[in-house]
Amino acid sequence: MTNENKELKIGIILGSTRQGRVSPQVGEYIKQIADERGDAAYEIVDIAEYKLPFLGEGTGEEPGLATWNAKLDSLDGFVFIVQEYNHSITGALKNALDSAREAWNNKAAGIVSYGSTGGARAAEHLRGILGELLVADVRVHPTFSLFTDFENFSVFKPADLHKDNVNAMLDQVKAWSGALKTLR
Ligand SMILES: Cc1cc2nc3c(=O)[nH]c(=O)nc-3n(C[C@H](O)[C@H](O)[C@H](O)COP(=O)(O)O)c2cc1C
Repeated sequence: MTNENKELKIGIILGSTRQGRVSPQVGEYIKQIADERGDAAYEIVDIAEYKLPFLGEGTGEEPGLATWNAKLDSLDGFVFIVQEYNHSITGALKNALDSAREAWNNKAAGIVSYGSTGGARAAEHLRGILGELLVADVRVHPTFSLFTDFENFSVFKPADLHKDNVNAMLDQVKAWSGALKTLR
């Protein structure tokens, strides 16, 4: 591992802000696997904490907007925790994506999704958006089923087989985050 890669900062972004959401459990699971690797600084980034105004409806001076952009600026790569809402990503995640521009550019991302079909449709929508934001999304994409990886759709109990896939996704995010850092 090079020193450059050791210093990489990867944000695990929780895509849902709904009361009763399960995304913090999924984010913690990914962070635990990531921290065991010890190959980068991984942190949970919770959109809900930034109280972002709906794009265009605020003054643009809301402190959360500046803090959100500063947080993204400080990161070299991302892992998006994506949940499927009406076959797409949440409105909260789309608003958070729209609420920054340069801070996303020339960085890498992995996608972790869940839903009745593993959140696949939402994840594919996110890939299209990331292209416009100059975020390079990696191929390996862990997907979790609401039916088999959760108890009562609310307690996250992922099957063991997912761990290898999560590590393979993180390998790619780390490699591309390091490579793209040289462009910025
Ligand atoms: C408004 C809404 C729409 C949803 N639409 C879908 C859907 O199209 N496909 C799907 O698999 N799950 C759908 N779900 C189920 C969510 O994926 C599930 O509730 C999941 O737990 C949401 O993530 P969260 O708990 O982190 O908010 C929907 C849930 C909500 C609240």
